[in-house]
Amino acid sequence: MSKFRYIFIGFMLTFLSSWVGLVLMPVWGLGNFEQTPDPATGEMIPPKLSSLEKEGRDVYIANGCVYCHSQQVHPARVRTDIARGWGVRRTVARDYMNQEVAQMGTMRTGPDLSNIGVRNPSETWHYLHLYNPQITSKGSNMPPFTFLFETKKKDPENPAKDALNLPEGFGPGADYEVTPSHEMRALVAYLQSLKLSAYEIPEAPAARIESLAE
Ligand code: HEC
Repeated sequence: MSKFRYIFIGFMLTFLSSWVGLVLMPVWGLGNFEQTPDPATGEMIPPKLSSLEKEGRDVYIANGCVYCHSQQVHPARVRTDIARGWGVRRTVARDYMNQEVAQMGTMRTGPDLSNIGVRNPSETWHYLHLYNPQITSKGSNMPPFTFLFETKKKDPENPAKDALNLPEGFGPGADYEVTPSHEMRALVAYLQSLKLSAYEIPEAPAARIESLAE
């Protein structure tokens, strides 16, 4: 009989530990999910992704950006994300509600991108960086995404308005012009939309945000 008791206790402990790991820890980590509209505008927060931004998210997924970049600002008591300027508050479950497939990531070979839309809204910078990270960030180990750009022979009569202004030593040379493809435009629109913890959430006013961020 006592053997059964041990088996039963062992069984319960196994379930309890997986419940702590799979249910309790994520809830502690992300806070409760409450879906309430902004009382001032009646709009849902965060705003929904536009169709171009959604396409960009798919480009982000297809090109494995998530292998090197996270999109989760951890509370200050756990990590130094807020001190590094990756967000003004920690992210909570609600921040991901429009993502369908949340791109939280696990590895941080590169910086967290939760709020890259606030940190660096420059379209030009992103194009140059994605064309070849060495242009803007010398020594970077991020791979170039040159294949998401189009290269054409320059027509002096009719130069492309959106051609990249590549510095000496980069690109195919003065006879050619490089323009972002539709996929690249969508990707940069998605990056610019990433403002995951830059707004206040009505059910999480500043005080609560601060207490969560401790
Ligand atoms: C092999 C890892 C790796 C992959 C894959 C990768 N990155 Fe990066 N990324 C980095 C590193 C390292 C940095 C920091 C140095 C730099 O700015 O290039 C970085 C920087 C960035 C930055 C600038 C962040 C900041 O705070 O200034 C952006 C934006 C970015 N990556 C977007 C992307 C996108 C979009 C993709 C997919 C198309 C991608 N990265 C794929 C490693 C990676």
